[in-house]
Amino acid sequence: MDKFIIRGGNPLVGTVHVSGAKNSALPCMAAAILTEEEVTLENIPQVRDIATERRLLASMGAAVELHEPVTPGDGFSAAPQNHTTISCRSLSDPVARYEIVKTMRASSLVLGALIARTGAARVAMPGGCAIGGRPIDQHIKGLEKMGAVIVQQHGYLEASAPRLRGAHIVFDRITVTGTEDLLMAAVLAEGETLLENCAREPEVVDLAGLLAAMGAKIQGAGTSMIRVQGVARLHGARYRINPDRIEAGTFLIAGAITGGDLIVANCNTEHLGAMIAKLSEAGARIDALGPDSVRVRGAAQLRSADISTEEYPGFPTDMQAQYMALATQAEGVSLVRENIFENRFMHVQELVRMGASIKVDGNTATVRGPARLSSAAVMCSDLRASASLVLAALVADGESVVDRVYHMDRGYERIEEKLRGVGAQIQRMGNVFAPRPEKPINQPA
Ligand code: EPU
Repeated sequence: MDKFIIRGGNPLVGTVHVSGAKNSALPCMAAAILTEEEVTLENIPQVRDIATERRLLASMGAAVELHEPVTPGDGFSAAPQNHTTISCRSLSDPVARYEIVKTMRASSLVLGALIARTGAARVAMPGGCAIGGRPIDQHIKGLEKMGAVIVQQHGYLEASAPRLRGAHIVFDRITVTGTEDLLMAAVLAEGETLLENCAREPEVVDLAGLLAAMGAKIQGAGTSMIRVQGVARLHGARYRINPDRIEAGTFLIAGAITGGDLIVANCNTEHLGAMIAKLSEAGARIDALGPDSVRVRGAAQLRSADISTEEYPGFPTDMQAQYMALATQAEGVSLVRENIFENRFMHVQELVRMGASIKVDGNTATVRGPARLSSAAVMCSDLRASASLVLAALVADGESVVDRVYHMDRGYERIEEKLRGVGAQIQRMGNVFAPRPEKPINQPA
């Protein structure tokens, strides 16, 4: 298991480039299932979740090819241009196997597309997750309303529908992948589908952009009401994935927390509103340098500012852990309220081990700062928690060891190279300890 060795104290200075959005790329790759023709996606981030989805599509019979750039990136200049082609001409085996999807929650994203394209699907139920139970009842309810018959057995959802029909669906609660799943189902359904109380995240808009390029008829993506006129077939398309707003936000915090002077390039500043507003409130100096580039400068002393996670355009839950690292360095008391997931404070104990003063009560963490963070060996528990620990280690005094960075590799592309390129002292190390031998099967735990 890889770890990062990070020596804190360096202000980050220079330009860092943002990769394509993982959470756009995942549904867009699933959308390729909807056509027999080739779909080409540009700017897909090379992260572990994407590799898992590539394997998943390939296991169903799709041909997935990653075309690497001729000149590899150096980690801190512009991201290398890659593109991925996906051809789902034949989907010989429309099954999302547990062995492949168990590490990636987004497996439910292939459910709607598989039913729409093949009339049947067998998808392993995603298990629990470090950040919460994460049910998919809204996906199932919506697909059933469109005429799918779905049964759950042996850990799989078995679904069938000769042809989905348009329906009027009101989500009981806002769900990002739920909106995306039903959108993919609706584009090939017979007649009109009206989706209400939809997620308005830029990733939904990205998916709708690709689907429209494939010939789908969609109105209202990015608002809470989406109207879809089903079509008989979709064709191939070429589409460029938007920059990752969460990676961009993580770099903004990296610049602010280290008292640096960082240009975050290749981003979409339109998607960063809530994060920029909050960092400015906390005293960081932020200047938009155009539509795709932001400069962040640290403050002599950051100030406390409360956050409350909300659906887009509110402050993203995917930035809560990173913001908490920043709050440990801000003068005063910051309240961090998590409203989307029930268990997304796993980073708190690790930050406390580094010297942060944080108390959790229900869904609210009270952070008192500024705390002098000291280096420690800490453990990543999920993707964004790992980013939080890396940020804390960048300002801790001494050398921290951040373990289980495979969580970080799920969603951040070449993160240590990018951070090193702007002055961070960070190294990746393979596990220096010998792995524990496997326990004999019958031995009691
Ligand atoms: N929910 C339900 N029923 C459902 C679906 C969701 O109760 O059928 C609940 C969830 O349990 C949660 C809330 O609704 O409490 C919102 O969940 P949502 O469905 O919006 O989350 P998701 O679609 O599973 C995506 C991102 C997450 C991000 C959330 C919220 C992808 C692949 N994942 O998850 O990203 O946190 O939206 O914005 O798009 C990450 O990148 O680190 C990450 C976890």
